[in-house]
Amino acid sequence: MKHLLKLQDLSEQEIYQILNTADQLKYELKHGIAHPKLKGKTLAMIFSKSSTRTRVSFETGMFQLGGQALFLSSRDIQLGRGEPIEDTARVLSRYVDGIMIRTFRQSDVEDLARYGTIPVINGLTDYCHPCQVLADLMTIREHKGSLKNLKMTFVGDGNNMANSLIVGAVKVGMKITVCCPEGYYPDAQIVEYGKQSGLLEITSDPVSGAKDADVVYTDVWASMGQEEEAEIRKQAFKGFCVDDAVMQAAKKDAMVLHCLPAHRGEEITADVLEAHAQEIFDQAENRLHAQKAVMVLTMA
Ligand code: CP
Ligand code: NVA
Repeated sequence: MKHLLKLQDLSEQEIYQILNTADQLKYELKHGIAHPKLKGKTLAMIFSKSSTRTRVSFETGMFQLGGQALFLSSRDIQLGRGEPIEDTARVLSRYVDGIMIRTFRQSDVEDLARYGTIPVINGLTDYCHPCQVLADLMTIREHKGSLKNLKMTFVGDGNNMANSLIVGAVKVGMKITVCCPEGYYPDAQIVEYGKQSGLLEITSDPVSGAKDADVVYTDVWASMGQEEEAEIRKQAFKGFCVDDAVMQAAKKDAMVLHCLPAHRGEEITADVLEAHAQEIFDQAENRLHAQKAVMVLTMA
């Protein structure tokens, strides 16, 4: 694996290789077994958007692997003042061993990889969030034993999370139903890809969409960069909430996942979130293990 730009680029086998490596690294960490697989290496982390989980898990993960991470806010580096991505890529390639980037345009991530000579990892764009979905698949497998023959229902905005969840689910053979309002569909090409696989369904009714779901997933109504649309979105997404009615429709032992941060009373009720806190915070923890696996597989 050279980069992690989007899940479309990975085979099912590569996804399992990441999940298995992540499980192994998690086991080693829990048992105090050191794993300095990236000793002496440096990861540059470019952030053009806020982050709690992504930043802390990459930085801590790099430390645990024997390397170090540099936090580079795009406000502080020349990129934020207009230095082109292609120059940033070539300069960083002379200093560090890998780049993680969280930004707006997917094309910027792809360009970093094109012009640089080192691995690039996508830490979220407007288009997708592959690191999150790898952690999600790891969490589902931990709780359910396998990823086969499961149904996931996503309730909310057809955003970066919905896009990556569709691709991730299709790659591992999981059924996925996306419940979103008209006009807030996932990326058209990804919808086409999902439909072709026979695994994707789209509906505007969260209760019927959650029928027999093994996993119920949601994310914010307004993503980073959409702050001005927050009020309009509150109206558009009324009813697209993971609440008791949705959970009644899902399987009795259904898990609930949320990439976080969560807005209680909007996309999820406080009760549902707290009832499934174990799963949701396992999911957050698994960002660390899954991303360490991605770094080892691309940078070691
Ligand atoms: N889920 C996620 O990516 O969280 P952060 O925005 O805190 O990194
Ligand atoms: N869709 C959200 C995900 C945050 C992890 C956003 O892009 O803000």
